[in-house]
Amino acid sequence: MDIIKLLKDMTQINSVSGDERAIRDYIKSEAKKHCDEVYTDILGNLVAHKKGEGKKIMFAAHMDEIGVIATSIDDNGFINFSSVGGLNIRKLAHTRVKFANGTEGIIGDKEKAFKEKPALDKLYIDIGADNKKDAEERVSVGDTAAFCGSFTQCGDKIVSKALDNRVGCAVLLKAMEEIKDSKNDLYFVFTVQEEVGLRGAKTAAFEINPDIAVAVDVTDTGDTPDAPVMAVELGKGAAVKVMDRSIMCDADVRVKMIETAKKNNIPYQLEIMTDGGTDAGAIHLSKAGVKTGGISVPTRYIHSTSEMICVKDIENCVDLVYNLSVELW
Ligand code: CO
Ligand code: ZN
Repeated sequence: MDIIKLLKDMTQINSVSGDERAIRDYIKSEAKKHCDEVYTDILGNLVAHKKGEGKKIMFAAHMDEIGVIATSIDDNGFINFSSVGGLNIRKLAHTRVKFANGTEGIIGDKEKAFKEKPALDKLYIDIGADNKKDAEERVSVGDTAAFCGSFTQCGDKIVSKALDNRVGCAVLLKAMEEIKDSKNDLYFVFTVQEEVGLRGAKTAAFEINPDIAVAVDVTDTGDTPDAPVMAVELGKGAAVKVMDRSIMCDADVRVKMIETAKKNNIPYQLEIMTDGGTDAGAIHLSKAGVKTGGISVPTRYIHSTSEMICVKDIENCVDLVYNLSVELW
């Protein structure tokens, strides 16, 4: 399984939170090759289980992506919309979106859109419709659309939409492929609805009831001009999460990650993300609590149509997940 090919395929599949069918089908066909059982739970999480005797370890990566949802269509065929997940409203104008049936549109901005406080009601989707009836033949209220953003390689970097969090999914698939013999009972969970509130991870953790959990997702970096101060940089290794807005990571899990990275010469850096949370937040509060940590792929321009990651960092994350999987806890 080539990780670049995996990422190219997975980032270009559209699966906005709430309808993860397309991406789930793709991941399922890959995961089946490397696991003892693969199943979909009630909310739609895909669970891939590699049976073992030791500790029950759950790795989680969300497979949904941010997008927009049509809320009404005006008399001229312009579509009003709301957000699915955290959108940067200031940067939405003139980006392209694609509905599940293939209808494409661009986000237009009303005259005063950004003279006042940016707000979604100053924006609309233009699908090139002649009138309301024409628009209604292609888009219905409640339809969701993903952002368009092609996959491209810039040197040793990769740029695409939806790297948040198809890169986490790719890390789990790749680690899963490499694990031949594990002492632990491993669950790789591809969760739904992370972007709208860590929802899939919540029920998956309850059902699986793991001893240890690790969420794999993206994190911001502080390495671009005028970026917010942050220690994480692209190309400096797997980010071991210390804290984000949803969790203070379990100290034992964090220490284990650092020791494992050191022992196996895996470049790593410590992550404190002050903006945003991850599935780790929902998982560690499941049942009576779950010892939980996080591994992140450093990512520039998160939630844009051109997110950027470094190939080496992905490989470091795969190595770390692999070694945490096969080692005794
Ligand atoms: Co996100
Ligand atoms: Zn994410």
